[in-house]
Amino acid sequence: TPAVRDRLRIAIQKSGRLSEPARALLASAGLSWRESRDRLFCYGESLPVDLLLVRDDDIPGLIADGVCDLGVVGRNVLLEQAGERSEAGLPPVFREWRALGFGGCRLSIAVPDGWDWQGPAQLAGKRIATTYPNQLRAWLRQQQVEADIVVLSGSVEIAPRLGQADAICDLVSSGATLAANQLKPVLDILQSEAVLAGPVQPFGDVRAELADLLLRRMDGVLRIRD
Ligand code: PRP
Ligand code: ZN
Ligand code: MG
Repeated sequence: TPAVRDRLRIAIQKSGRLSEPARALLASAGLSWRESRDRLFCYGESLPVDLLLVRDDDIPGLIADGVCDLGVVGRNVLLEQAGERSEAGLPPVFREWRALGFGGCRLSIAVPDGWDWQGPAQLAGKRIATTYPNQLRAWLRQQQVEADIVVLSGSVEIAPRLGQADAICDLVSSGATLAANQLKPVLDILQSEAVLAGPVQPFGDVRAELADLLLRRMDGVLRIRD
């Protein structure tokens, strides 16, 4: 049985593109924190809502394990780990609660500048480097294209130049990283942005009311921003 708790715990990215806007959104919703010296745990003052500062990739797992209640994370990360669970035959435990309107980017297929792009069939038999194997695999299946997926945890854009892969599937925001590595985006397989992630099952204690209150306030802030 899940532990009963009387405070809500939200995980956000410790440092990176989503960390400042995530804090700003939560502050606009009326949350304030007493900062601990190591700043990895921020105790909520205005409401019993605490912050945990973590690696973005750890956020879905923290929710799955019940260590955190909610998280602000890229849709790309959430879907990737949902896909991983489903491939492993595990039931869904976290899902997107709200799109947050910041941190927009695309998960795209990119190929060397010199390629004359004809379409997905051109990827057949090729090696594609990515940090998102589940989403890439699902997309390749849908396209009925067979290709080799090379899983890397970062610096994916350099793989073609190193001869490790022929093409890549990675996040594109400004496009600067692709351009700097003589690659061009040819197809988007996902539109991503920061989302509020939460459990599939509702909370069975006071966290339910806290989460409701927070959602109402966040919705108010997001409406004004539009
Ligand atoms: C993302 C992505 C690309 C880069 C693209 O990495 O993996 O490398 O941003 O951005 P651009 O199109 O504006 O150049 P991020 O900085 O989020 O770090 P991470 O991959 O280590 O999480
Ligand atoms: Zn990351
Ligand atoms: Mg990167």
